[in-house]
Amino acid sequence: MQENTHTMNITVNGVNYEKEVPVRKLLSDFLREDLGLTGTHVGCEHGVCGACTLFVNGEAIRSCLMFAIQADGADVTTIEGLERNGELHPMQESFSECHGLQCGFCTPGMMMAAIDFLKHNPNPTEQEVKEGMSGNICRCTGYKGIVDSVLKAAPLISKLETKSKVF
Ligand code: FES
Ligand code: FES
Repeated sequence: MQENTHTMNITVNGVNYEKEVPVRKLLSDFLREDLGLTGTHVGCEHGVCGACTLFVNGEAIRSCLMFAIQADGADVTTIEGLERNGELHPMQESFSECHGLQCGFCTPGMMMAAIDFLKHNPNPTEQEVKEGMSGNICRCTGYKGIVDSVLKAAPLISKLETKSKVF
């Protein structure tokens, strides 16, 4: 049986694409398989682990819970869209400096979720970071380095936000 497809237009990390996509293809799979943007990781595929977190029209979403065609016309930012002109985003710098990762599987989703968290709470306490990041699962780090990374990134991201350039 022929699979239903839909031609969609999407902007990802500032690049516009027109693609024919199976209507039931997940946004996470579309980014990885059709655009080669494998920085978005897929863990649980049912909205629990947070590994696939990215931004659609500025809102953090779990891309394993969204069909690609639901992002028709949208502006998407993935982990690949964080760096600018070869420079790491402050969240990436902070994860590197504070050892916020080990295997790195959870890391893209963790960083996107952390940026979203700091958008809503730019000057958090350690406890608020723990609670705010509790929807993202890491099997390696014990979370200490992740919490330290988010706390370190907070003032740096605030400075970016005053320039309207979170990402
Ligand atoms: S892969 Fe999407 S939440 Fe786990
Ligand atoms: S660094 Fe391995 S799952 Fe988080």
